[in-house]
Amino acid sequence: MSYAIITGASKGIGKCIATELAQRGYDVLLVARSTDLLNSLAQSLSQEYAITAKALSVDMASADTAATIFDYCQQQQLSVSIIVNNAGYGLSGTFEKYAAAAHEAMLQVNIMSLTQLCALFIPQLKKQPQAYILNIASSAAYQAVPYLGAYAASKAYVLRFSRALYQEYKNSNLSVSCVCPGPTDTDFVNRALLGPKGMKAAAKVNMTPEQVAQIAVKAMFAKKPTTIVGWVNKLGAFLAWLLPNTIVERSAMSIYQ
Ligand SMILES: NC(=O)c1ccc[n+]([C@@H]2O[C@H](COP(=O)([O-])OP(=O)(O)OC[C@H]3O[C@@H](n4cnc5c(N)ncnc54)[C@H](OP(=O)(O)O)[C@@H]3O)[C@@H](O)[C@H]2O)c1
Repeated sequence: MSYAIITGASKGIGKCIATELAQRGYDVLLVARSTDLLNSLAQSLSQEYAITAKALSVDMASADTAATIFDYCQQQQLSVSIIVNNAGYGLSGTFEKYAAAAHEAMLQVNIMSLTQLCALFIPQLKKQPQAYILNIASSAAYQAVPYLGAYAASKAYVLRFSRALYQEYKNSNLSVSCVCPGPTDTDFVNRALLGPKGMKAAAKVNMTPEQVAQIAVKAMFAKKPTTIVGWVNKLGAFLAWLLPNTIVERSAMSIYQ
């Protein structure tokens, strides 16, 4: 079987997506920073599903990491047919709370590394009988989110970029899907330094990473361009489209301030 590369596979949604793909018989290349978590997941997936699972620990906040991943796959002669661009995180609070370098690192992970991986791997993916790219955005992609501004904007990029690629490749053997989860019970809130109000709001509507991964992988194989995960998040995106921006943004601001 060919390989699926899953970024951000050490925990949360990415770990569950890797498990879904291993269950379907794909060999997996697990990418994130946490070496121990990746190695133990690789070991358990290869034992449980009789597949080959490899771990590559890299920091995707570096500009050359996508090239490192690509070179590794070339050296190992991996036949890659799926790329899951899932690694990502948010920074909540005032924009000024974080140094420019912190914003830049987040945008490198959320936007640049994702784009670079697409650019590097698409020529190879096109040579496969059937190939897939699955990009993980967010329900935050559908509106401006004060106090989570750069993150939400980065996910708007992921959504629009993915839809554009979907159109460009839809008559080919490469399918590009974008999945937008809403609040999901992972380490995301801790990494984003979400305040108590944000934590409480998220906890009320949290889905599990297993649920999100199942929906995401199904959507990818169904070649859907965009999927908003869960009816609450679908309703949120609809209201963001329907209501005046100011009302939508004030409501988000009251959660993340
Ligand atoms: N949870 C939510 O509420 C939610 C909602 C909407 C969208 N999402 C999106 O879903 C995706 C997965 O997030 P999650 O909820 O599963 O959060 P998570 O549990 O914090 O997982 C994030 C993953 O990204 C990896 N990652 C973070 N920074 C990295 C870096 N610099 N280099 C390499 N890997 C890095 C992490 O691995 P290491 O720490 O080991 O590097 C981890 O595997 C993200 O794109 C996130 O924006 C999440």
